[in-house]
Amino acid sequence: MGAEKRCLFSRAEIARRVAELAEAIGRDYAGRDLVMVGVLKGVFIFMADLVRALPFPVEVDFVRLCSYGAGTSTSGEVNITKDVEMSLQDRDVLIVEDIVDTGLTLAFLKQHLASHQPRSLRICCLIDKAERREVEVPLDYVGFPVEKGFLVGYGLDCGEQCRTLPEIFVVEKG
Ligand code: IMP
Repeated sequence: MGAEKRCLFSRAEIARRVAELAEAIGRDYAGRDLVMVGVLKGVFIFMADLVRALPFPVEVDFVRLCSYGAGTSTSGEVNITKDVEMSLQDRDVLIVEDIVDTGLTLAFLKQHLASHQPRSLRICCLIDKAERREVEVPLDYVGFPVEKGFLVGYGLDCGEQCRTLPEIFVVEKG
């Protein structure tokens, strides 16, 4: 990727925040039957760190949704390209997402997973990007609130580039 980028959150800042989120989730779900449903692909690094920081083991499943093309703006339409594979009925389900932008993806996913009749359904997202929110979705656990910008690294990509960077960067428009 040719565009300039500036580091927004360092490895240490991310690690500290992930540990805090895991502590809060660990407290809230102690003694419960927690399934974490990650939204591929962007969440894979965050979720791997989060589950390993929890004080107890959890079950995990994944969905893959498609709303973005290869660029940086949403198409507005959400499709499921991979659904959950385990039963969520009567389970405590926590959706884990990398970044919330317009909110369309999570609003769609929450409604979809609610139809699986979980006992509870909440959302944990690493980054809450407020600028372009179109649908209000209650976010139960938020890593970093961010005003605006296109972010890459720590799982987040731009046209499949930059996902494996260990820090989170904002892409600066040249
Ligand atoms: P929303 O439906 O507009 O909330 O978009 C959510 C999805 O868009 C996320 O799961 C990401 O895949 C992608 N996305 C939104 N903003 C960014 C960004 O700043 N960097 C990388 N991906 C993003």
